[in-house]
Amino acid sequence: MNIKVTSGHLKNARIKAVVSYFFKEDRKLSAELEDLDKITGGGISQLKREQKFDGSDGSVLTVPTFGKGKMDYIILIGGGSKKKLDTDKVRRLGNVAYRVLKNLKIDRFLIDIESLPLNKEEENITAQAVVEGIILGSYRFDKYLTKKDNYKIKEIQIRVKRKYKSKTEESVKIGKILAESQNFTRDIVNEPGNVVTPVKLAEIAQELAEKYGFELKIYDEKEIEKMGMNAYLAVAKGSNNPPRFIHLTYKPKKPKKRVALIGKGLTFDSGGLNIKPGDYMRWMKADKSGACAVLGIFRALGELQPDVEVHGIIAAAENMPDGKSYRPDDIIKARNGVTIEIGNTDAEGRLTLADALSYASDLNPDMIIDMATLTGACVVALGEYTAGVMGNDERLINSIIDVSKKTGEWMWQLPFNDMLREHIKAPHADVYNIGTTRYGGAITAGLFLEKFVDKKIPWVHIDIAGPAHNTKGWYYNPKGATGFPVRTITTFLLSQ
Ligand code: BES
Ligand code: ZN
Ligand code: ZN
Repeated sequence: MNIKVTSGHLKNARIKAVVSYFFKEDRKLSAELEDLDKITGGGISQLKREQKFDGSDGSVLTVPTFGKGKMDYIILIGGGSKKKLDTDKVRRLGNVAYRVLKNLKIDRFLIDIESLPLNKEEENITAQAVVEGIILGSYRFDKYLTKKDNYKIKEIQIRVKRKYKSKTEESVKIGKILAESQNFTRDIVNEPGNVVTPVKLAEIAQELAEKYGFELKIYDEKEIEKMGMNAYLAVAKGSNNPPRFIHLTYKPKKPKKRVALIGKGLTFDSGGLNIKPGDYMRWMKADKSGACAVLGIFRALGELQPDVEVHGIIAAAENMPDGKSYRPDDIIKARNGVTIEIGNTDAEGRLTLADALSYASDLNPDMIIDMATLTGACVVALGEYTAGVMGNDERLINSIIDVSKKTGEWMWQLPFNDMLREHIKAPHADVYNIGTTRYGGAITAGLFLEKFVDKKIPWVHIDIAGPAHNTKGWYYNPKGATGFPVRTITTFLLSQ
C-alpha cells in the first residue's frame, strides 16, 4: 500500500475515487464540492436530494462522474454531528471509508482530510487517525484460508492544505507504523497453540532482534530453574511444550527513561488440573495477547527509534493438565522469596508474572508496565471493550489512561484497597493465588502481582482479558485478536 500526501483542488485529483466527509451541520456542499457538482452536471446535489443524504452517521452517497471528472467516483461519507467528532471517531470514519471502497472494489482513492474538522490541538493527528483506521480496519487473518479475498489497497492520497504537508507526512508515517505493528501483534495472537508455542514466541523475538538490532536473552527451563523462578516453572510443568523466558532490549544512545514492559505469554491456557469447561477454554490461544503486544510494541520501537530504553519481558509457557502438572494446595517459593499457596491452577498468569515482575524490578527501571489477559472478573467488571488499570503510582496510571483516550483503546482504573488485600492471605503461605471470594477478582489479581514488584518502582498493571480478543468484531477491530494496547503503550513511550 502506497500512501502519499497531496494538496490542491479536489477537482484535479487524478484517481479512481475522491472521498470527502459530510456532517449534519454541513447544510451546503463546500466550495470545492460545488465545483465538482458543476463538473458532474449537478450530479452530487441531485443524488443528495433524492437519497436524502444529510451527513448522518454511517450514511454514504456514491456519485459516479461518468467520464466527466478526472476521478470516476465522488464519495461522501456521513460523519454524524461535528460536536461528537474526536480522534477516535476520525479513526472509525477512516474504517468506514475502507469498507465502502472495498465494497466498490476501488483500490486507488483520495481522502479529503480537510473535511474532518478536529479542534486545533488534534489537527495534526487527523491524518494519522485516518490511516490507522484504514490499516486496522483492513486487517484479515486469512493465512489458513484456501480461498482468500484478494482486494488490496494500492494507493491512498491523503489530501491536506499545502502548509500542513510536511507535518502530515510525519503523522501518516507514525499512523502507518502504529497500525502495522498492531496488525503484527494480531497475527501472532491469532495463531493457534499448535503453531505458536513458547519456543515459537522466542523465535519471533529473535527475528525482531535481528531485524532491528535489539539485545536478546532467551532462557530455557534449566536456566529458568537456576534463576529461582519456581512460580513460573510450576505453571509450565504440565506441558510438553517447554517454557522460554524472553528478555528483549531496545537501547538508544541517550535514553531519557528506562522502562520495563511485561506481557503475559500463555500460548494456551487449558486451566491445568483445574481444567476449564469447553466453552471457557475456547479462545485461550489468545492468553498470549500481552506477550504479543510487547512484540508489536518492539516492532514499532525498531521503526520509530525513540529516546527511551525499553526492556520487553515475556515468561512464555503453556498451562496443561498432566501427571507433572502443579496442583491445588501446592506451595511454591517465587524468585523473590515470597511463598505462594495454590488455590486454583487456572490462576496461572499471575504466577508467571510474579517471577517476571521480580526479574524486571532487579533491572531497576524508571517504571514497569505489565499487560495481561489476567481475569474473567475484569471482563465482568468493565465489559469486554475496556481494560482494567491498576498499580502503585497514580500519576503513571493517569498518564496511561490519558493516552488511551486518544488512541480509542479504552481503559479504566480499578481501585486497590486494604480490605481486598485481606482476601489473598493464604492458610499456609505468604500469599494465595486466588481471592477467598469471587468478588473483586480483577483487583485481587492485581494485589497479588503487587507482592512481586519493588515498592520504589512505579508500576502499572493492565488487565486486557476483555479487549484483547473478540468473537464479533467492532469498529476497526475485526473478529479475533485486536492487538490491544499496542498503540497506547507505544504512544506513551514516544511521549517520554
Ligand atoms: N486466562 C484467564 C483469564 C481470561 C478469562 C482471559 C477470559 C480472557 C478471557 C486466566 O488465566 C484465568 O483463567 N483466570 C481465572 C482466575 C480464577 C481461577 C481466580 C478466571 O478469571 O476465572
Ligand atoms: Zn487460567
Ligand atoms: Zn490465563
